[in-house]
Amino acid sequence: MAKNRSRWVCSACGAETRGWFGQCPHCGAWNTIAEQASAPAPGRVSLAPAEGQVVSAADAQADAEAARRLTTGIGEFDRVLGGGLVPGSVVLLGGPPGIGKSTLLLQACAGLCRSGHRVLYASGEESVAQVAARAGRLQAREEELLLLAQTRLEPVLERVDEHRPAVLVIDSIQTIYSEAQDGLPGNVTQIRSVASRLVSLAKTAHVPVLIVGHVTKDGQIAGPRLLEHMVDAVLAFDGDEERATRMLRATKNRFGSTQELGVFEMTGDGLREIANPSEAFLAERPGDAIGSCVTACLEGSRPLLLEIQALLGQSPGGSPRRTCVGADPSRLAMLLAVLERHGDLFVLDQDVFVNITGGIRVTEPAVDLAVLLAVASSHLRKPLSSQTLAVGEVGLTGELRRVPRAEARFAEAQRLGFRQVLCPPSRGSGTLKGLKTVEVGSVAQAIDVAFAR
Ligand code: TYD
Ligand code: MG
Repeated sequence: MAKNRSRWVCSACGAETRGWFGQCPHCGAWNTIAEQASAPAPGRVSLAPAEGQVVSAADAQADAEAARRLTTGIGEFDRVLGGGLVPGSVVLLGGPPGIGKSTLLLQACAGLCRSGHRVLYASGEESVAQVAARAGRLQAREEELLLLAQTRLEPVLERVDEHRPAVLVIDSIQTIYSEAQDGLPGNVTQIRSVASRLVSLAKTAHVPVLIVGHVTKDGQIAGPRLLEHMVDAVLAFDGDEERATRMLRATKNRFGSTQELGVFEMTGDGLREIANPSEAFLAERPGDAIGSCVTACLEGSRPLLLEIQALLGQSPGGSPRRTCVGADPSRLAMLLAVLERHGDLFVLDQDVFVNITGGIRVTEPAVDLAVLLAVASSHLRKPLSSQTLAVGEVGLTGELRRVPRAEARFAEAQRLGFRQVLCPPSRGSGTLKGLKTVEVGSVAQAIDVAFAR
């Protein structure tokens, strides 16, 4: 029979100790170790049966399925989470200042309220009046959306106890501090201490917690790396400052894929979901333009059509420039070398600019062929047909290689009215519901077909 153990937990950092200590051996805080009745260990969702009990994987799975996710009604947000918020989970939303983190969470909170949940939104950055004004603009003035302006953690936890919300939002981890801990808000020990207490709250009270985290200039979430290990999911929200497009990705997700991409547009009244990003990204594409080629990449489960643009110019100096926006510069260098050796186009002495429109960054090799054809188009000063797209990985010997889930990509191209796709050999050329698949085995062959050389 399982022994009924009690636990000794530090109220400052959430660490468990073997017994009572005057000073916590983990965070160094004094008089913070207290005895607690046996509860699920923090850091794990208590979907599992009691500690020590053995269950079949099939049953455990059924249990996990039964844990109902809370959906925010913002499809793009729920999908990136893996189908909504898991009870008891802690999600960290990181992004540069002004990108729209508070806006996104406020809209998500309103959605949760509309499906009957109570949400507590604690802000250490803005006053209640400011948050309420924004909520008004976002049509998010819901009865069950409780706003709290507070920079101390303890009163926030008291309000959670009092109002029992279904979800807690902390905006942001850098501005909320714990009184049980020394140091200014935002310093490493404060962040660690606040985060671990929020994790404990989520795991013991089953309240999902959404935490906003600012990122530093180099794109890291400010604070200890440990923060990312402590939470269940880390979402990154970013986008171009000049553009209204915003992208949401999971960089860590214990309860879902990290491949999904959510796309939004920042408008005068909040974030609008872009459920059909291919259409949006191709909307401004000029017809039959020189130096342009469309490709289909995969973002999680979703195929996405993108336009690749290239511009070549005589280099004034001895060392030609390579400028990539959204594409990988080292991959471009390789493609230029392949183009010279296997495509008979000498471009190495020219300045090359490559841009992926829509502010998307792509690392998939499946876009190689389109980058190469866009460069070739600019060099030859001949356009590709605007109804043609290209998909394929380019190898160093000038061969074209197959890409994963080609059918899904082709289906997206069909849906948007493309007539022809240049792709590596697989089943033989043919026509699929109006989309002609033209198989090309090498870079030279692809250029010949694309520009009727
Ligand atoms: P915000 O959510 O405050 O960003 P963060 O919390 O990431 O710092 O969003 C700030 C920007 O978004 C601000 O510059 C104004 C703009 N915005 C809109 O364009 N429309 C809106 O409806 C809202 C609420 C904000
Ligand atoms: Mg904010």
